[in-house]
Amino acid sequence: MRTMSHGETFTVVKGTIPATAEKQELYQHALDALHGLLAGETDATLIMASIVAALHQSMPHYFWTGFYRVCGDELLVGPYQGTPACLRIAKGRGVCGTAWAQDETMVVADVHAFPGHIACDARSASEIVVPWHNEAGTIVAVLDVDSSLLAAFDETDRTLLEEMARRFPFG
Ligand code: SME
Repeated sequence: MRTMSHGETFTVVKGTIPATAEKQELYQHALDALHGLLAGETDATLIMASIVAALHQSMPHYFWTGFYRVCGDELLVGPYQGTPACLRIAKGRGVCGTAWAQDETMVVADVHAFPGHIACDARSASEIVVPWHNEAGTIVAVLDVDSSLLAAFDETDRTLLEEMARRFPFG
């Protein structure tokens, strides 16, 4: 059971992949909640922590949710929810480092089939990584989401997470 900022409560059962219409509704709900919560905020940690919390609590197909921040020539883990994660990722390494290097969303249906995938938790089966930019358009972080289910992420996740990235820039 959880409480949204509006006081509404509902139960999320982890470990299922929502149908497209339900995904859209869940993302819209998270976007609306974040819009209220983050109005006028510019602090990067506050924004990252709020996005991770809002998404992780509401999405049944999310197993690990977090940001990796661009720090020099590495990604360093930022606010996250889930099991303890790898701390540093080099540019071009793994799914996160590839999304950063190419400045492009990566949707991976089976992480074990992705060459160079970095396994922080053996239960992760599929993954989406979305680049995040500041207002000037420079990449400052990536949002990394893992699912314990194969092929949990699709164009709906990509479209709505990319919309979230445009709505809540930081850095
Ligand atoms: N699997 C990622 C590493 C980060 S963890 O999933 C939290 C990757 O290959 O970049």
